[in-house]
Amino acid sequence: MKPQLILLGAPGTGKGTQAKKIVENLGYSHVSTGDLLRNEIAKDSELGKKVKGIIDRGDLVNDQVVLELLNANCDIENSAYIFDGFPRNIEQAQLLEEHVLKGADSKAIYFNIDLEVLVERISNRRIAPKSGEIYNLLSRPPKVEGKCDVSGEDLIHRKDDNAETVRNRLEVFKNTIAPILDYYESKGVLVSIDASRSADEVYGLVVEAVNK
Ligand code: AP5
Repeated sequence: MKPQLILLGAPGTGKGTQAKKIVENLGYSHVSTGDLLRNEIAKDSELGKKVKGIIDRGDLVNDQVVLELLNANCDIENSAYIFDGFPRNIEQAQLLEEHVLKGADSKAIYFNIDLEVLVERISNRRIAPKSGEIYNLLSRPPKVEGKCDVSGEDLIHRKDDNAETVRNRLEVFKNTIAPILDYYESKGVLVSIDASRSADEVYGLVVEAVNK
């Protein structure tokens, strides 16, 4: 069985971009807690109503709430998963181990980058919710302005991708990442990669990390 992959990195480092490539090429399943939460908001479910304001501000949703959503959407006995967006703090790292991974082989890949470049990356991001394609007006523009190359659907600019919310998301990240890295380092499963390179180069580093 392939190791379960835990993608760690600040907002905009390319976790979702790389997850898509890993799914297409390495046969992994992908679970993104950000996508799951945004789906709840789009459905206008009770949970969606509760978390909308939190996500719009760029704060973290309650650990247990996200854990339940995660557990309902992955089945690691039958597939190798990419965990994208979970854990966000040391408590979530412990919850992931105790309630989801339960001792399964895992690898944590840290997307290391100078945080200064991320505001520009994120403000130029456009996403296609149905196809899951992720574009960037600078590094990966769509062929037709405002439309997804794959599905033709309209591209959207995530509500939490405005400058003020991005700054808060980066602050939250800075305040929570160190103990998570220490935790995976002490388990001997942490690999750090340079996420400032092009998306294809980063993918090469990800494959090396998976096979290490
Ligand atoms: P979430 O959806 O997880 O967002 P995030 O972690 O902030 O990550 P992003 O989706 O912003 O970035 P990414 O690293 O996937 O980058 P991408 O590949 O798109 O979380 C959103 C919110 O949900 C949180 O703020 C919180 O409120 C809540 N939440 C989620 N999980 C939670 C949890 N576990 N607990 C509590 N709350 C939770 O790339 C970004 C852009 O850069 C794109 O335009 C892309 O085309 C471009 N790009 C990618 N790679 C490169 C490259 N190498 N070079 C140049 N451009 C690149």
